[in-house]
Amino acid sequence: MTNIILCGGSGTRLWPISRTLMPKQFVKLFDNKSLFQLTVERNSKVCNSQFIVSNAEQYFLSVDQLEELKKENNKYLLEPVGRNTAPAIALACMELDPEEIVLVTPSDHLIKNEEEYSKVLEKAKELALKDNLVTFGITPTFAETGFGYIESENEYDVKAFHEKPDFETATSYLEAGNYYWNSGMFMFKAGVFLEELKKYSPEIFDTSKDALANSSKDNITRIKHEDMMNIPEDSIDYAVMEKSSKVKVVPSDIAWSDVGSFDSLYEELPKDENGNTLNKNHVSVNSKNNLIYGNQRKIATVDIEDCIIVDTGDALLISKKGSSQKVKKVVEEVRKTT
Ligand code: GDD
Ligand code: MG
Repeated sequence: MTNIILCGGSGTRLWPISRTLMPKQFVKLFDNKSLFQLTVERNSKVCNSQFIVSNAEQYFLSVDQLEELKKENNKYLLEPVGRNTAPAIALACMELDPEEIVLVTPSDHLIKNEEEYSKVLEKAKELALKDNLVTFGITPTFAETGFGYIESENEYDVKAFHEKPDFETATSYLEAGNYYWNSGMFMFKAGVFLEELKKYSPEIFDTSKDALANSSKDNITRIKHEDMMNIPEDSIDYAVMEKSSKVKVVPSDIAWSDVGSFDSLYEELPKDENGNTLNKNHVSVNSKNNLIYGNQRKIATVDIEDCIIVDTGDALLISKKGSSQKVKKVVEEVRKTT
């Protein structure tokens, strides 16, 4: 089994930890390991190779971090520009044997229940071997509009896949009870995915094939800029999952988080008895329930509650908890002025 690892985004909602040149998946947030490294370690229990699909800047970071883990057997495909997940996954699948089972995962998610995760992967493999496109369903806890929803019927069957509904629709899904969040991970035979892509998004299929035929290959596949630009931009969710009748879901009670904001990072980090994240540089005077990140200097707080304080030496973020989705607006402002 091959683990296709998608390293595309830069995670602007985690600024200033996550930067264009150091995106969140490579930042060592947990036990001195990055989310990328945790992804590789978790999946290499079932996958015998890693196939990294990323842009050129992230390539060097992934090489270094794989070296630290002493992982060999790595393949790379470099995109000069991102065209979203459908082309990224298509290009990787076209480089593999059609019978190869692939586990497609983002590089920036956290899964804490690894025991359950390995059971879930086993079930997924069983379904993928029967030519299904397998999704991993997370029981939703609120009406998130940034996720895909999987409408299930019976145990593993999928009635429909709904990418990013509006808030009212998401709320009705939560009330209905038979909907899961799509975790953004998939398992299928490379060839089965490509057949479905060809059926439902033939333009992505054809232009991806052309781009590969024209790519340069040493041990890294490099797609040319103009070929990449010819591939229509779309996500796997819209291009294939919403349309295919081969989609299955494995309920996945795996303690999953997409670590998409500081509020969700706060939930995942270890905390002291006052609810402050553990940080040896933090001097707390009557401060509670704060995320304090920074290892360059002392950070002292007095009577501060429910705040996010992130210090990277060259930038300082102070935010109320609950407002961390707005951090991407900071990045827009910073880009305008620098
Ligand atoms: N290589 C590569 N190239 N990777 C990419 C590209 C690209 O062009 N675009 C996105 N990625 C990577 C991102 O870095 C991320 O790890 C993953 O693919 C998913 O992309 P996102 O942009 O984060 O997708 P999303 O959050 O809007 O939605 C997806 O994930 C949700 C769960 O987190 C969908 O699959 C939703 O249905 C799902 O609920
Ligand atoms: Mg995402």
